[in-house]
Amino acid sequence: MDAANIVDVVSDFVTLKRAGANLKGLCPFHDDRTPSFIVSPAKNYCKCFACGKGGNPVGFIMEHEQISYPEALRYLAKKYGITIEEKELTQEEVQRQDERESMFIVNQWANEWFQHQLNDTPDGKAIGLAYFRGRGFRDDIIKKFQLGFCPDRSVEVEQTDEEGHPRRLRMGAMSYDALKDGYQEKFLTNNSETGMGTGLSIKNDKGALRDRFWGRVIFPIFTMSGKVVGFGGRVLDAATKGVNVKYQNSPESVIYSKKKELYGLFQAKQAIRKQDLCFLVEGYTDVMAMHQSGIENVVASSGTALTDDQIRLIHRLTDNITVIYDGDAAGIKASQRGIDMLLAQGMNVRLLLLPDGDDPDSFARKHNASDFQKYLAEHQVDFIKFKTNLLMEEAQGDPNKKSQLINNIVETIAVIPNEITRAVYVQETAATMQMQERLIASAVAKQVQANYEETLKQRERIQQAPISPDAPKEIPDSHEGLTPPPSDTPIEGYTAPLVQSNRDRDQQRLQNKEAELVRLVLRYGEQIIGNLPDEQGQDQPISVIEYIAASLIQDELTLATPIHKTILDLAVEHVHDEGFMAEKFFLNYPDPEINALTFDLVTDKEQLSRMHQKQSTQYTEKENPLPSMTEHILTDYKIEIVNKESKQILRELQDPDLMKDAQRYLQVMTRYKEIKEIQKKLSQQQGGRAIV
Ligand code: CTP
Ligand code: MN
Repeated sequence: MDAANIVDVVSDFVTLKRAGANLKGLCPFHDDRTPSFIVSPAKNYCKCFACGKGGNPVGFIMEHEQISYPEALRYLAKKYGITIEEKELTQEEVQRQDERESMFIVNQWANEWFQHQLNDTPDGKAIGLAYFRGRGFRDDIIKKFQLGFCPDRSVEVEQTDEEGHPRRLRMGAMSYDALKDGYQEKFLTNNSETGMGTGLSIKNDKGALRDRFWGRVIFPIFTMSGKVVGFGGRVLDAATKGVNVKYQNSPESVIYSKKKELYGLFQAKQAIRKQDLCFLVEGYTDVMAMHQSGIENVVASSGTALTDDQIRLIHRLTDNITVIYDGDAAGIKASQRGIDMLLAQGMNVRLLLLPDGDDPDSFARKHNASDFQKYLAEHQVDFIKFKTNLLMEEAQGDPNKKSQLINNIVETIAVIPNEITRAVYVQETAATMQMQERLIASAVAKQVQANYEETLKQRERIQQAPISPDAPKEIPDSHEGLTPPPSDTPIEGYTAPLVQSNRDRDQQRLQNKEAELVRLVLRYGEQIIGNLPDEQGQDQPISVIEYIAASLIQDELTLATPIHKTILDLAVEHVHDEGFMAEKFFLNYPDPEINALTFDLVTDKEQLSRMHQKQSTQYTEKENPLPSMTEHILTDYKIEIVNKESKQILRELQDPDLMKDAQRYLQVMTRYKEIKEIQKKLSQQQGGRAIV
């Protein structure tokens, strides 16, 4: 916990910019278009002020990588080169592991197995490695992308069937080794309904596990942080002709969705951030070819249309994207939707067309690295300019087409979220097309409005979806012909919610007062505020935490909100730990809910500082306002409790049945007088001086 630096940890996934004492960036947990994600180096904590997600370094990694607490610790230990002494997991322990984790473990095992086959076996070298080398890939690139090979080898095993007869089965070599190493069938196969299992193996009707990637070279697919979520397996050229599809990919599962991953992101993320630019290509081999030419800021959408999830992954690292096309003009038009999505997410989009049907892989093979880099630098064009020029050519001398083209471009400009960027494009488009700027501007404005209304409609549709039966009923607006009933006559649907909301408000107020106490515990808990004699009559220093706890015990009070109580209990338990500091302790405590509450309470300083000022003017004779502040907040809390009880008694006294029970009536009255007395004392105390 001491080694993990939140800025470091978050920076692996999000580009951060300074913002006063903190840093901020686009939130990795929701569709964020303006930076809402705040990282506080001082508190070693991060949080999104829009969606609320975040945490300390461990919590952030848990949330981001969707892994358990111990896994997150292992991740951080690895990052910081700290060795964790772990005993080898037994078969049973492996089983007990969370299923997602088991799938990652199986994938990691397979990744190593495939690499071993490629690099260290005669077949792998002669077939797989020869294939990659034959395509011109260097060994360091093959290593960097952890490419592998799955041989077309099987192993015969003997089993007994349901009737007890022995039978022979042919298992895929990978599946056989996986079972032999103790990996369970359910994680090797894939259940398409539940998404459980990696799908590395496929069970045939005889009950044998065959290898999905049989006879293919392997491209592992990594998450941004380097975990293997799936594989792509390519047939060797010799086998391409025939029924075989060129690429077999891992099936969709609880850890892998083709639409959510970008090939090469793990190897590219640092370069993308450094260059503040991301190239987008189509295929696995394109990514590798570009790396080989020294261009490392590149990812592939793996041959499918770009999705919002993928765009978000890129956008966390940079605002700038250059889409590399190996296709013709028609291909570009077909992928317009993806580009409009990039623009809509507020990215700056440029386009790069490769000459005569080359893809980055083939282009790289024809040119040396520096020529390739030069070509990229010189041929990137702004997407909207590109589109305007392209369509202009087509519409030459055809007024009908020209107006279609204008509408087309207007639609594209209108999705750009930033008003100024839109204005710049309007200006440029008007110039290119030799049109009046205000015509285009007003068309764009109309389209923006239309898009906005469409969004509103969509939102309405969502809101009109059936609500749950226990949602609060609304109070009717009009009561024509109804005189408002006296407030204590219960009329269904009218007064009940009002009374309820009063009580809720009291409850809320009490909770706030509790939170103030907890805030004090978190911010100043370990500080010494005075001395109290112990059993031997010796004065002992007493901390804020102990003082608050003792004061509550004395008055037989317990904090009502469970998390508040937990925090106070833990504070009491640990206040004498060596070097204990409440804020640090609770920001790092292994419970994300406690971390989050702590961060919120210690960050929202406003209330405390206001209190602080009031105290220091009121108690100028004191050097240290902390004791009086503690007393003040404690008393505030107690007043709230007493007020609540007094209100409850008043309600009870209005109950007509109470008068009939003389003894009960007397009891309530006595308690009422007591409460009044306490109220008086407390408010005197609040106006007067502190006791410590
Ligand atoms: N792809 C796929 N399944 C296929 C074909 C393609 O998943 N049947 C994906 C792969 O991610 C592939 C990308 O689409 O990398 C682009 O396809 P293509 O250009 O055909 O493949 P390349 O990567 O260029 O492969 P190669 O150069 O080996 O033909
Ligand atoms: Mn190719």
